[in-house]
Order: sequence, then C-alpha cells, then structure tokens
Amino acid sequence: MTDILNELEQRRAAARQGGGAKRIESQHAKGKLTARERLELLLDEDSFEEYDTFVAHRCTDFGMENSRPAGDGVVTGWGTINGRQVYVYSQDFTVLGGSVSATHAAKIVKIMDMAMQNGAPIIGLNDSGGARIQEGVDSLAGYGDVFQRNVMASGVVPQISLIMGPCAGGAVYSPAMTDFIFMVKDSSYMFVTGPDVVKTVTNEQVTAEELGGAATHTRKSSVADGAFENDVEAIAEVRRLVDFLPLNNRQKPPVRPFFDDVNRVEPSLDTLVPDNPNQPYDMKELIHKVADEGDFYEIQADYAGNILTGFIRLEGQTVGVVANQPMVLAGVLDIDSSRKASRFVRFCDAFEIPILTLVDVPGFLPGTAQEYNGVIKHGAKLLFAYGEATVPKVTVITRKSYGGAHLVMGSKQLGGDIMYAWPTSEIAVMGAKGAVEILHRKDLNDPDKIANHTADYENRFANPFVAAERGFVDEVIMPQSTRKRLCRAFAGLRGKQVQMPWKKHDNIPL
Ligand code: HXC
Repeated sequence: MTDILNELEQRRAAARQGGGAKRIESQHAKGKLTARERLELLLDEDSFEEYDTFVAHRCTDFGMENSRPAGDGVVTGWGTINGRQVYVYSQDFTVLGGSVSATHAAKIVKIMDMAMQNGAPIIGLNDSGGARIQEGVDSLAGYGDVFQRNVMASGVVPQISLIMGPCAGGAVYSPAMTDFIFMVKDSSYMFVTGPDVVKTVTNEQVTAEELGGAATHTRKSSVADGAFENDVEAIAEVRRLVDFLPLNNRQKPPVRPFFDDVNRVEPSLDTLVPDNPNQPYDMKELIHKVADEGDFYEIQADYAGNILTGFIRLEGQTVGVVANQPMVLAGVLDIDSSRKASRFVRFCDAFEIPILTLVDVPGFLPGTAQEYNGVIKHGAKLLFAYGEATVPKVTVITRKSYGGAHLVMGSKQLGGDIMYAWPTSEIAVMGAKGAVEILHRKDLNDPDKIANHTADYENRFANPFVAAERGFVDEVIMPQSTRKRLCRAFAGLRGKQVQMPWKKHDNIPL
C-alpha cells in the first residue's frame, strides 16, 4: 500500500516539474512565471483543486510516443479568489511550448463545461506556441471545441483571458471571444499572422512587439482591455476585477463590506464644472468622488480616452460606469468610443450589473474619416446597447448633452430609469453656436446680432430646466450631493423587473 501511495506522490511530483528544471529556468529568464506559479498567485492559498494531472497525449507521429509528459502542457481545475469559485486553465510553456494537442484542448473543454454547469467564471492563462504541429487536424478540432465553449459560455459565466506569452494564429480567437483580455507588457503578443508572413504578403517590416504586443492591443486595436508590467501585477489585477463580478448570469454581483458614508457630501463637486463651457475638467474626479472609498477599476484605460468605462461600488454593490471625458476630444462620441462603451454596456447587462452614465457630450465627431468608417453603425451600437439593457440605469448630466448623443447616453427615452442633471447642464438639440448659424444665416455677417441670438439661445436652452419641465430629467440636483443621490437611486431600483418582447436574439448593428 505504501508503495502505491509513494508512486502517486512521485507521479505528482514529476507532473509538477512540467518541462523540467532547464525549461523552467529559461521561462524565468524571460521574466515569466511558470503555469503553476501563476495559479498559486491567482488563487487563494491551498484552494486549487487540480484535474487531469496525468492526462497525456495519444499522438504517435514524429516520435511523439517517446515523450508523453503528464498534464500535456496545461494545468486545469478550480479554486477560489477571495473565497469565490473560479475555474482556471494555465498553459505550461515549458511542456512542448504549451502547444495545444487534442488532449490539451479536451482538458480545457472539460473545465469550461464544469464552469458553465456550476456557474463560476473561467480564467484562462495563455502561454502557448499554438496548435501542436505534430498533431495537425486533431489539434485544430480541439481548438474548435474550445471556441464553441467560448460562445456557449458567453453571457452565462464571465470569461477572462490573460495573455502571458505567445498567442498566435487561430489561437487568438478563443481569448477574442472572452469578456476581458489582459496582456503582460514585453512578454506577450497576439496576432493572426506573425511578422514573417506579414513581410512576405505585404512587404511590411514589423517586430512581434509592434505587431501584437500589449501597447498595440491596448492603444491601437483595442483587442486587449489592459496591460500590466509583469505576471505578478497582471494576476493581482485580475483578482481585483473578479471581486466586482457576479459568478454567473443567475446571480447578482457580490456585495462587499464598505467603509464609506452613503450620505457623504463633496462640496468640491460644486465647482468641478468650469465657468467657461469650453474649458475641460476631469470626469475621473467625479467618478472617484462618488465611488465607495474612491475605488475605480478602469477598463480600456489606454483606448478612446474620450469615454471612460469601468467598475465602482456604491453601498458595496458593483456599478458599471460609462462617462464622457471632457479632457479628451471634449468628450465627443466617435467610432472608437462608441465601440468601447457599447461592449462594456452589454457586458454589464449580461451580468446584471447596474449602469451609471455620466454625461458631458457635445455630440458626435464630424468628418469624412468618421463617416467613411461607419460612425452611423458604430454609434448605433451604443444606442442599441443602452436601449436593450434592462439593468438599473441611472444617468447624471454634468454639462453638455446635445442632440443624438443626449439620447444615446442613458436617456429616459432609451429606458434610463433615473435621470439627474446638475444645474450646470445644457440639454439641447445642439450647441448655441451651431443653432444660431442655421436659424439666423442671414445675420452671419453681423457679429452683434449673432452675439444677441446666441445669448438668447443660451438663455433658453443652456440649462436643465426646459428638459426638467417636461419630465425628461427626473430631478436637478446639487453636485455635492451626487453620491447620496446615486446610492438612493440604485437602492430604489434593486427590485427592477422589465419584460422585453420575445425574440431569438437581437440584431445589434455589428
Ligand atoms: C509543437 C512546439 C510548438 C508547436 C513550440 N513548440 N511551439 N511544439 N507545436 N506549435 C516547442 C518547441 O519545439 C520547443 O521544444 C519548445 O516548444 C519551446 O519553443 P522554442 O521555439 O524553443 O521557444 P521560443 O524561442 O520562445 O519561441 C516560441 C515560439 C516558437 C515563437 C512560439 O516556438 C514558434 O514559433 N512556435 C511555432 C508557432 C506556430 O507556428 N504554431 C502553429 C501556429 S498555427 P523543445 O523540445 O526544443 O524545447 C496555429 C493554428 C491554430 O496555431 C488554429 C486554431 C484555429
């Protein structure tokens, strides 16, 4: 009996060694942790339940029968993050380059199925040379099985991808279908075709980092939602994110202990909006000042800075924030910001996370570049996302809220529940200058008349009261009491129930 137990321990120890000391050393030399070291950091101490430790591939081509490492290049199972269950897979680059065989894929599929059945998020730590070349189409089929699980799990359990090494070719499409992608700076990259193929086909010369590194995907392509300095920071930030999210689409987000006063007033907010309507101010200040303990988890911080997206808590409960940022492009809506925000709104709605919208928007960005690239369709995405979202939606207008953009940004007409406006709000079909130039075209050569017309228009519309008279705004509030108002508003909406007409699914303008 003791011999059998010893054998199990020996087999386990061998499996934990992955590709062996030399390859682990080389992994460390690249500044990367091993698959198991990463899981140790990601999960609560001693919470990891591993499955399929002894799974080995069945390939007999190219001499593969002589090398059948236990685990087959991926560590899978479940554990907890601050006591809440998550399913995980962590690719082991030290074992055959973390390449994906049929059995490697089957291990991932198994835990994805368990995650969906048991209602817990899936976190994938990606570090792989892609399809196991020796296995050919068997590997391809394995990827297909994972992709299908990504689709089925979407909107059922949160899916988070951490890219911590290579992720190339068709392999990128599994993370691409998950809810969030985070990358590690300088040691991870994602691309459909690598620099060599790019050179052959398009004659462009580009490094792997330039083509698909963390900076590229967080600043240019928006494929990734965040980039971190190293493995440790990336893993710590994923733990922080998980704390904001519900485990599945049947549960509410977690309620965390909070140590902030619900009735906290912030007198400094009364002077946040400058007297000059064209002067910017930092909308992040408002977010930090209303949030419990000032904590804001920003998503896509480096992309489309004219809109801010991320999570805060109010009374310990998660709220998704979408906010125009006057500091960047005057907070205008354009293609990039519409795409960024609509995906975020849809995530929140899928997982029952209430949405707070903070509005200071001069409209949609004009120009041929925007029109030729489809700002109509992309802007419609955001409109559609808000209109279909049935979670509690509370909106605060701080300054400008003009035209179509006013309707897009969490308006009552698009199912907004509570609409507050600061006294500094300007709710109108367009800005005074543009309106006067159309209404009084004949006076354009007379600056005095134009100035009078502009002042008239501003007096009439550059305030929240016309909208408030009609009930389009529920209440004009003091800026300093915004946190208290928001906590009350969301508390009042906790029992919200909405029935939408039956449909197989909608047809959002993609
Ligand atoms: C089998 C692989 C492998 C793979 C790496 N290895 N990738 N084995 N299949 N895809 C093995 C290497 O042979 C090596 O084994 C070990 O992993 C470490 O690899 P190195 O090359 O030494 O590491 P490094 O120098 O860091 O380079 C990493 C790399 C390179 C850039 C990822 O390994 C590489 O280019 N691999 C091939 C990538 C690729 O073409 N994959 C297929 C893409 S097609 P030893 O024994 O020497 O340590 C694809 C389609 C997916 O993925 C389709 C889904 C729909």
